[in-house]
Amino acid sequence: MQIPSAGMDRDAIFDQLTEYKKDDVDWTSGRVFGYVFDPGADILAFGKEVYNRFLTENALDFTVYPSLLRLENDLVAMIRRHLRGNDQVAGNFTSGGTESILLAVKAARDYFREHKPEIENPEMILPSTAHAAFHKAAHYFGVKAVTVPVDPKTFRADVEETRRCITAETIFMAGSAPSYTQGVIDPIAELSALAEERGIWFHTDACMGGFLLPYFRRLGRDVPDFDFVLPGVSSLSVDLHKYAYTPKGASVVLYRNPELRKYQMFAFSRWLGYTMINPTVQSTKSGGPLAAAWAVLRYVGDENYLSFAQKKMAATQRIRQGIEAAGDLYILGDPEMTLLSFSSDNVNIFHIIDEMRIRGWYIQPSFSFQGTCANIHLSINLSNAGREDAFVADLNKSVEAAKKLPSGTLVKEVQKMMDASGRQAFLENAGDLLALAGVAGGAMPERMAPINEVLDAMDPEMREKMLLEVTNRFFHP
Ligand SMILES: Cc1ncc(COP(=O)(O)O)c(C=O)c1O
Repeated sequence: MQIPSAGMDRDAIFDQLTEYKKDDVDWTSGRVFGYVFDPGADILAFGKEVYNRFLTENALDFTVYPSLLRLENDLVAMIRRHLRGNDQVAGNFTSGGTESILLAVKAARDYFREHKPEIENPEMILPSTAHAAFHKAAHYFGVKAVTVPVDPKTFRADVEETRRCITAETIFMAGSAPSYTQGVIDPIAELSALAEERGIWFHTDACMGGFLLPYFRRLGRDVPDFDFVLPGVSSLSVDLHKYAYTPKGASVVLYRNPELRKYQMFAFSRWLGYTMINPTVQSTKSGGPLAAAWAVLRYVGDENYLSFAQKKMAATQRIRQGIEAAGDLYILGDPEMTLLSFSSDNVNIFHIIDEMRIRGWYIQPSFSFQGTCANIHLSINLSNAGREDAFVADLNKSVEAAKKLPSGTLVKEVQKMMDASGRQAFLENAGDLLALAGVAGGAMPERMAPINEVLDAMDPEMREKMLLEVTNRFFHP
């Protein structure tokens, strides 16, 4: 494609965009368990309207746009209160959970560089359920990630094993409230107390639960403390573009006090340009996501969020019961919010996912890792409420259909290819695998089970390399 010599007709462009979108997952169907957090047409439209109004404003410089500074401080104040932080707690608006986590790790690293310069090779200890964003932060900022396997039954962080992994180089520890995949809350009180006792920075990843869990608590659920009531919590991430239903590009990272937050920022004056002072990762950024987040929280209001939480809690309960009643399936751990994973010992879960797709449902696979078998994840939402029975009925049909499908055929062929060429050559010829799996021009085949089985059979390192090779090919005109 090239830039057209003359500007095109608006309608022709919109038609083309519609055509491009035809294979996208239809999140308006209420049959998607993830990716889009849909609060319904009215809130969505309101969020878009505010977003558009601030789309062009540039949050690069708060002295030029004092409105954006004010909106950000208001927003941080609302979220800090929600998470029981006192007026010392400081924070910023970021583009998402990953950016919030990146910033917390960078802040901790730079804090320890100043306060404990003798630490040359900083380490962070993570439960094996900690979100991949922490590993991205480790990769970006040169902090070694030490992963501690979670309890294989509860999927919660193992406090004693964490204690054993602490070294003189440990600067950072984290736990999730809840973890994305199994939706269980780590023992944050114990982990953060341990961190405090040893002078280590502790981060609560409440990207998923930070907004919703306080409502679950108010609805009578026994939600353990995970926020700033715990004195050992140094920082916390909470996403608004998830269960707060604000338009995408919205998260908040909070710190116990401004002294800790300071290490997150970046200032640079040694060049022939303006002095750049960035509180967060991005420099030039639209004011749209911030203004929309501020406005949506106020438009929806506390009582509606509470009633949304009630609906999600009930929907999760019904779906969970349906899965437990389907004889061939079991839930991993004891999910505490709206996120859960399930698996099967006798049915190929990748076929179940394909069969559900054919029936119009989008559900997500997780590959096997450290003794936990491959499983199916659901992030349950408002838009799924009312469709629980239909979901369970189709799930049962999908399990029966999956039982009749063959497994492992592509795995065998790939194994032969790999044996013949060796790992490296196999990776370099990732295109052969794609062709074999029926992937053409970036479009995925209707049935993904053969590909998922191949990826699941690989060790994680090989899987990462293979997916990088494949992605490198996809993002190429
Ligand atoms: C627990 C947890 N932490 C962090 C993230 C990363 O958030 P984002 O995708 O907004 O970068 C997610 C995303 O699902 C999450 O579930």
